[in-house]
Amino acid sequence: MAIQFDPTDRTITLQTRTTTYQMQIGANGRVLHLYYGRRIDGMCLDYPCILTDCGFSPNSYEDRLHREVSPDILPLEYSSAGCGDYRVPALECVSDGGVTGADLRYVRHDVTVGKYALPGLPASFEGDGQAQTLSMVLADAATGLEVELLYGVFEAADVITRAAVFRNGGDKAIRLDRASSLCLDIPFGQWELLHLHGRHCMERKPERVRLMHGIQTVSSRRGASSHHHNPFVVLMATDAGERHGECIGVMPVYSGSHRTDIELNQADSVRVVSGIAPDLFSWQLEPGEAFHAPEVILCHTDDGLESLTHRYHDFLNDHLIRSPWKNRRRPLLINSWESMTCDFDAEKVLKFAGDAAQLGVEMVVLDDGWFGARNDDNAGLGDWFANEDKLPGGLRPLSDAIHAMGLKFGLWIEPEMVNEDSELYRAHPDWALAVPGRKPVMARNQLVLDMGRRDVVEHLYGVFSALIRDNGIDYIKWDMNRNIADTFSAALPPHRQGEASHRYMLGVYELMDRLTGEFPEVLFENCAGGGGRFDAGMLYYTPQIWCSDDSDAIERLTIQTGTAIGYPVGAMGAHVSICPNQQTGRTVPFGTRAIVALSGTFGYELDPAHLTEDEKRRMRALAGRYHRFYDLIHNGRYYRLTGVDQDGDHVAWAFVDRCGRQALLNLVVTRTHANTHGIHVRLRGLDPDGRYRLKEMAVEGCDQPDGAYLSREDVAERMYTGQSLMAAGFTLRPMRGDYPGVQLLFERVDAKEE
Ligand code: DGJ
Repeated sequence: MAIQFDPTDRTITLQTRTTTYQMQIGANGRVLHLYYGRRIDGMCLDYPCILTDCGFSPNSYEDRLHREVSPDILPLEYSSAGCGDYRVPALECVSDGGVTGADLRYVRHDVTVGKYALPGLPASFEGDGQAQTLSMVLADAATGLEVELLYGVFEAADVITRAAVFRNGGDKAIRLDRASSLCLDIPFGQWELLHLHGRHCMERKPERVRLMHGIQTVSSRRGASSHHHNPFVVLMATDAGERHGECIGVMPVYSGSHRTDIELNQADSVRVVSGIAPDLFSWQLEPGEAFHAPEVILCHTDDGLESLTHRYHDFLNDHLIRSPWKNRRRPLLINSWESMTCDFDAEKVLKFAGDAAQLGVEMVVLDDGWFGARNDDNAGLGDWFANEDKLPGGLRPLSDAIHAMGLKFGLWIEPEMVNEDSELYRAHPDWALAVPGRKPVMARNQLVLDMGRRDVVEHLYGVFSALIRDNGIDYIKWDMNRNIADTFSAALPPHRQGEASHRYMLGVYELMDRLTGEFPEVLFENCAGGGGRFDAGMLYYTPQIWCSDDSDAIERLTIQTGTAIGYPVGAMGAHVSICPNQQTGRTVPFGTRAIVALSGTFGYELDPAHLTEDEKRRMRALAGRYHRFYDLIHNGRYYRLTGVDQDGDHVAWAFVDRCGRQALLNLVVTRTHANTHGIHVRLRGLDPDGRYRLKEMAVEGCDQPDGAYLSREDVAERMYTGQSLMAAGFTLRPMRGDYPGVQLLFERVDAKEE
């Protein structure tokens, strides 16, 4: 059993393959958190917890003669403000009677086979594996508030998920001001924080910092998970690295305003609280009502960040992404945005498609600009019917013509937005979020629809389901190009305005649920001005997300490395675009751009008509490489060979198939120097006793033949053991030129082939 209750010491223990999570129902019904870490069997883990009288840490009334027992110091499973625990609270609430906080005590627990679900919210599912659910109810006697803590235990996947449900069991309304999904006290150890920060065009840059005493916060108040602070943090033991040491990952399955607080307190212990950002949140719970907080995916490893990455990749692929496309080879696409923006007509698009079809492209995606009065980004959002000046007869003839070329047809949409200059806004100005008496805050000259309104969601569902059905759409790119500022809903009474932001997310999730559920054959790609909503919540609905509006391959090395710490490679939207790059002005060799984009979904963001003959030849060859390496890249293991810090002169990473038969080594030189001594890398994940040959070598952006970069003439002929490639490594001669890239395929030689 993955979940065990021991009535003698009143411990509840959750066991996964390599981890143990233990709680104890302590005196007076207080639920203590005893342990989360490397697996331990058959032990009550209350003994390391030392109780001492810490001055100015108060006692509950029952413990007034036991000054060493303080809710401010005890490791607690879930804690509210207002009851003697001054650490960062998981719950803040006030009842209509004016009672603040909740003194939460154990009521009951229950174990069931299978995985809990959260109504209206994305959450992991059982998949083929065996999951169990622990439900534990705590309650506050003064208000009648019940908090049900939910634990999904995925034994084989080595993951524990958490969520919380709040029920008003009293007779007065209760306002939740903070309703976190998770509180995790880590009583011992020295920890650092790894988080992914950034901005538009530079998302998810890894940063590792020492914890200071006090609270450090990773949060977004933008109504979206944001480009700026991704909802994923890793606590790393100070001595942990890529391949050793303890790491604890905390990944909220949420796409709106989120907050994870990490507090290092007076006792040098750590508390992590994670969930919906409380800043602009409140939720009115009438007697008998319930509120579901989103899920958080917890993962612990004892052997470094690499292993944490692998667990998250597997878990998201197997238990979170629900699209059937996650296991299908995605069509090689070309997107119109960087080459045409809104400036196209049917003739231009057909020429674009025809040219692309000659180069191995399998799907044409028509991006922004095909609808309403959309000739630039000041008008048209909301009017989801074809602009007949550009596309006479509408989308259907275009879609048919593209299909007749043997290509699939994809379309860009931005459902949650509206321009003032649109038919939709003129008909329903109250559908946009706006604060009464104040001019709305504008961004990209657009407003945000109130997705918390039923009429808005129904309208959008009608429009987009018909659009997809009537026009033979094979792919949808769902964009969101601004953050939310005026979180005021015309449909909510004043005392419920704090709900507008979360209701917005529930509306988005409902629309996504209905559209992706109705059209499982359509491949959905998420996007928010690039990677402004790259989170586990979105991955539940869409198997891939456009990583960044920065398509420069060198910038993408940082963006994709950071993203792949928690999110699978097959989820990262990555394209080859033209040079000089539109965002940075940098020129990177075509082949290097391809190596970087191949480590994601792969596609193009360029006009084939403007390519040289050499580039076209490369594109044709690349289509073959894309298909040949697809399984290795998307279903293999991803290894960071140069770690998460990118302060060296090259970045190297590899994909190794699950049997260790093939290894694809990728390397990009980010700074070229004279008089250097070559580039040395050590591979990972090979069969140590296997015998390998260098099967293929592609060196891009250098002015000498590929073989000239081998350390010795006979290197290509030699046989290597996995052990030697992993320990002694492989060396390439120094490369000249700007941003050369290398792709090497090592293949294990079966005994009979030898
Ligand atoms: C932002 C996206 O990230 C781009 O790829 C493109 O779709 C534009 N929006 C269109 O407005």
